This record gives sequence, structure tokens and C-alpha cells, in this order.
Amino acid sequence: MRLIIILLMAILFVFSCGEPGKKETKKAIVPKAAQKPEGYATYKQHCALCHGMKGDLGVNGSGDLTASTLTLEERIEVITNGRNTMMPYKTILKREEIASVAKYLQTLKKE
Ligand code: HEC
Repeated sequence: MRLIIILLMAILFVFSCGEPGKKETKKAIVPKAAQKPEGYATYKQHCALCHGMKGDLGVNGSGDLTASTLTLEERIEVITNGRNTMMPYKTILKREEIASVAKYLQTLKKE
């Protein structure tokens, strides 16, 4: 009986000490890009060309996204169906990608 208790405690000890160490090594391996907010990669690849990484580049009258007053739904609409010189993204991006990039635009806002 005592042996079982000692064994259990030893196992618990290994678990409680082993876990945090494991997590730390995992963290170190995660590349920087993976820690960026959702939608960042899509934005960088498809949108930064005209809107700039900060959203305020304004190429070809693309406006200043940091000053945009559109709601999330309206942004999703513009990205999905395009508007004037901005092309529609419904055939290029998945719906979830459009939603996450639309949310990402919120983080570009200047306070
Ligand atoms: C080819 C250049 C170009 C690319 C690439 C582009 N846009 Fe645009 N975007 C524009 C232009 C031009 C406008 C202004 C449209 C107008 O005149 O109504 C615009 C407008 C917008 C607006 C509306 C802003 C407002 O407040 O009215 C949003 C939101 C937007 N773009 C998001 C995106 C996102 C997200 C992407 C990437 C998926 C993207 N754009 C890629 C050119 C571009």
C-alpha cells in the first residue's frame, strides 16, 4: 500500500514539474508569424499592396482603413463584393478568411 502511494506521488511530481518546462520549449519553437493576430497573414498577402501594412497607404484612392467608419458587416461586404477599383475577394478568399481579415482591420485603427 505504501509503495503505491509513493509511486503515485512520484508520478504526480514528474507531471507537475515536467509540464511547464515542456510548454516553454514549445513556445520557443513557434515562429513569430504564428503569434500575429488572426487575419494578419491574409492581409499581408492580399491587401497590403494597396492599403499598406498600416492600412493608411491609400494607393489608387484606396482610402485610409485606419479612419474607416464601416461596421464589420459593411467591411465584409466591401471585401466580398468589391467596390469601384477594389476587386471582389469572394472567389479568392474563403468566407472565414474574409471575416478574419475584416476583423483584423479593426486592429489597424488609430485610437
Ligand atoms: C488593388 C488594390 C486593392 C487591394 C489589393 C485591396 N483593396 Fe481595399 N480598397 C481599394 C480601393 C481603391 C478602395 C476604395 C473603394 C471605393 O472607391 O469605394 C478600397 C476600399 C476598401 C475598404 C472600404 C474602406 C472604407 O472605409 O470605405 C475596405 C474595408 C477594404 N478596402 C479592405 C480591403 C481588404 C481587407 C483587402 C484584402 C483582402 C483589400 N481591401 C485589398 C483597393 C484595394
